[in-house]
Amino acid sequence: MTGYEALAEVYEWLISDPKLTPAGFAAAFDDVTRLLPSDARVLDCSCGTGQLAVGLAGLGLQVVATDASAAMVGRTEQLAEEYGASVRTVRSDWHELTDQLDVASFDMVFCVGNSLHHAEGARARFVALESMSRLLRPGGRLVLTSRTWELVRAGGSRLDIGHHLVRRNGRDALVIYRWEIAPHWEQEHHIEIAVAEVAADGSVDVRSEVLSCWPYRYDELESDLHRLGLRVEKSTFDPEAEGYLVVATRQ
Ligand SMILES: C[S@@+](CC[C@H](N)C(=O)[O-])C[C@H]1O[C@@H](n2cnc3c(N)ncnc32)[C@H](O)[C@@H]1O
Repeated sequence: MTGYEALAEVYEWLISDPKLTPAGFAAAFDDVTRLLPSDARVLDCSCGTGQLAVGLAGLGLQVVATDASAAMVGRTEQLAEEYGASVRTVRSDWHELTDQLDVASFDMVFCVGNSLHHAEGARARFVALESMSRLLRPGGRLVLTSRTWELVRAGGSRLDIGHHLVRRNGRDALVIYRWEIAPHWEQEHHIEIAVAEVAADGSVDVRSEVLSCWPYRYDELESDLHRLGLRVEKSTFDPEAEGYLVVATRQ
């Protein structure tokens, strides 16, 4: 189960302003991309609509972009074409990555933007991280960003309605998140995301999708990385902050 087939069409309303352009998205990772040699090979393995992949190609890197959602891969291809960027795209679930790409061939693998929680539980999450790790050259780095699920779960089930309209391509929409928090960490959780586009005549067109996710604690993630021989080089984890970044190096 992948999801994002409906949200792929309206995904720009879910991306923050600074990350809307490829250059802006890639700039958010300047601290890690500056560690790469100029001809490095990098993978974005949950590429979504492709801003990061196209931004990395703009830095002169050799980029492969994969995603489980065919609609997302299609949007990445469109964006790469629009920017004249050279990005190889492959539709791939994380567990299929090592069948489709050469192991030990990447200097950096990105899995960013609240993607990993879509792996269906602890075992699938470990397998996903293992695939990403196997694609790295020794000394290569895995770059992950994540929601702080400790904080999300503490907030309980709720409705988060945007406080103002978001404007994209001259069109306004209100973004609504409905969080369905299960009683136990290991259970399937749901996030329903609705993008309600408000036209000039006041009519409203809603695109929405219910996404499944399986949350994890930071400690579990760190322990998985450790078991896979990945050394955490940098972590911004703070239980009070909304999200964090982890950079882990393959030994
Ligand atoms: C929240 S989006 C993030 C997209 C992009 N990285 C960003 O930051 O905008 C999560 C992405 O993970 C992808 N995804 C979900 N399950 C996946 C899986 N099992 N294997 C690979 N990608 C998956 C979705 O299709 C979606 O594009």
